[in-house]
Amino acid sequence: MQKDQIDIRRPTSNDVPGMLALIHFVHGDDTDIDLSTCMVAIYEQRVIGVVRIKTLSDGTHRLASLGVYAEYRRYGVGSALLSKLFEAHHERPVYVLCTPQLHAFYTGAGFVDVEKQDLPSVLHEEYDRMTLHAPSSTRAGVLSMVLES
Ligand SMILES: CC(C)(COP(=O)(O)OP(=O)(O)OC[C@H]1O[C@@H](n2cnc3c(N)ncnc32)[C@H](O)[C@@H]1OP(=O)(O)O)[C@@H](O)C(=O)NCCC(=O)NCCS
Repeated sequence: MQKDQIDIRRPTSNDVPGMLALIHFVHGDDTDIDLSTCMVAIYEQRVIGVVRIKTLSDGTHRLASLGVYAEYRRYGVGSALLSKLFEAHHERPVYVLCTPQLHAFYTGAGFVDVEKQDLPSVLHEEYDRMTLHAPSSTRAGVLSMVLES
């Protein structure tokens, strides 16, 4: 792969099928997609990475649908997606719920740990659901993190 040929940009409606295929591949959230708050990574005219900010019913902003196809991982695509997303969108704070393995990934993007009790209540149910469904290897928990500025 030639890293300098990866284009990170806002999606157009033509990118939607590729975005959805990737979101489904990573079992991400495909609900209420607003193209204006998404970023995609394009390589050889294919969507290989996606991320978005989703605004929940109470106005809470959370990161959603982050995914990079397996063969393109660990080349900096995920980090570049976050960096472009937060350059373009200044909504803060932005929350993320993730598996413990991704702590370094989100720390690198400026996120810091936040305790469950300090999360907006709209995220509590999802936090509990993720804890319940975490495979035994990650039973150590679900990480909640926030980007404040
Ligand atoms: C999470 C994901 C988007 C990361 O994308 P990526 O393009 O590989 O990320 P980057 O290359 O920018 O990673 C930057 C750094 O984050 C850390 N990191 C990334 N993925 C990691 C992983 N799976 N485990 C541990 N650390 C990881 C590393 O420190 C990495 O730097 P390094 O490669 O120099 O060691 C990708 O692994 C993915 O699509 N996973 C499946 C879906 C998913 O888990 N989405 C997140 C839901 S909250």
